[in-house]
Amino acid sequence: MKNIVLTGFMGTGKTAVSRELSGILGWNSIDIDCEIEKSRGMKIAEIFREFGEQAFRDIETEMIKKISMNRNLIISTGGGAVLRQENMDALRETGVIVCLSATPETIFARTSKSNDRPLLQVEDPMKKISELLSFRKPYYEKADIMIDTGGKTPLVIAEEIIEKVKKYEGRREDGKSNCKA
Ligand code: S3P
Repeated sequence: MKNIVLTGFMGTGKTAVSRELSGILGWNSIDIDCEIEKSRGMKIAEIFREFGEQAFRDIETEMIKKISMNRNLIISTGGGAVLRQENMDALRETGVIVCLSATPETIFARTSKSNDRPLLQVEDPMKKISELLSFRKPYYEKADIMIDTGGKTPLVIAEEIIEKVKKYEGRREDGKSNCKA
């Protein structure tokens, strides 16, 4: 099997789902943001504050390219990783891209519990979430597999992902269509 790459907006449950996937498959799960924080010795919010978003995006691309060279991994990406085609190309070379989706209300409820997401430290986070979601929608939809997380536990989502990834991989081996599962 290829790596399983989790994409999706902030607060769609990528971290919780990657833990479940890791438990079921016995693969390591790697979080790109955590790897960036470890390698720089700084929190993501500090990187944004000190160097700005563009510098963060460059660091993110560098880390994605490095991590993508490995196999048998669950890779969790930051919500903005989908914005650069070169990130997606690197991830897709060794992995299947899965996108988790959730409603703006769920995202707001989950993300408002902490202040570690610099893009949402604004006066009206709900408005910001809606704006970012509609701008990013076409980027998220480029994933190989889309998963609606509404009303599902991380375990149920992980099981659904494994089933869909297997089908997707089977089709690739058969030489059949690669369209979304
Ligand atoms: C971002 C999402 C964050 C983190 C950074 C930027 C984004 O990751 O990479 O704050 O642009 O959506 P999570 O999706 O894990 O919160």
